[in-house]
Amino acid sequence: MIKGIVLAGGLGSRLRPLTKVTNKHLLPVYDRPMIYYPLETLRRAGIREVMLVTGGNSAGDFLRLLGSGADVGLDNISYAYQEGERGIADALRLCKRFADGDRIVVILGDNILEDDIAPYLREFEAQPSGARILLKTVDDPQRFGVPVFDHDRIVAIEEKPAQPKSRYAVAGVYMFDGRVFDFIADLEPSARGELEIADVHNRYIAQGDLRYNVLEGAWTDAGTFESLFRAGEFVARSRNEAQGKH
Ligand code: G1P
Repeated sequence: MIKGIVLAGGLGSRLRPLTKVTNKHLLPVYDRPMIYYPLETLRRAGIREVMLVTGGNSAGDFLRLLGSGADVGLDNISYAYQEGERGIADALRLCKRFADGDRIVVILGDNILEDDIAPYLREFEAQPSGARILLKTVDDPQRFGVPVFDHDRIVAIEEKPAQPKSRYAVAGVYMFDGRVFDFIADLEPSARGELEIADVHNRYIAQGDLRYNVLEGAWTDAGTFESLFRAGEFVARSRNEAQGKH
């Protein structure tokens, strides 16, 4: 059984002053707190056991909002606390005991997806080992992790490159086998002082063990004013469509 991990730490500095007194992932996206969306993505794909990593001053608010996870359809939510702002791979490091050698799917707390990820998880389960990432074409790849291709094979992931070598962004949904924690233990902080998830992906690439899918539906993160606004619009539109309103 694949376990789920939601990463909801960081200081949300790009959203100040909205994040001066609360965590980015508790901000509203249309009619729900942002964190509901990644949790729902996991739930919809059949994940029932989730660990949520958060940090900063509002960590207790997640417990108040989500409790055991029953209200959002999960069997259990475990919580971990990340000190400081040391990167996505550092937050993931805290989930080693929770994962306990099992395969995991990691989703960033500000990622909002239209796709049901169940088919990608099934492909991941069918692969003998390794990692799987999800890509989406975007207009502004320099804001994201960007894959470098040799034909249809990914040969590297570059984090926020000034000159992106493809038009794809690496979405914040990552599937890993148990080796991920050994790779993280081996990482050195990047120039910005963080343990980079792109470096983890590059370790899997070096082993010839990183696979990918391209997302079919809409995808956005919500970490900037522009993308937060777009995320709200996108959710409002899909809710109204679901209710037959236009
Ligand atoms: C992070 C990752 C980046 C990824 C993005 C997806 O960036 O570092 O590789 O493409 O999430 O949302 P951040 O949003 O932390 O700048």
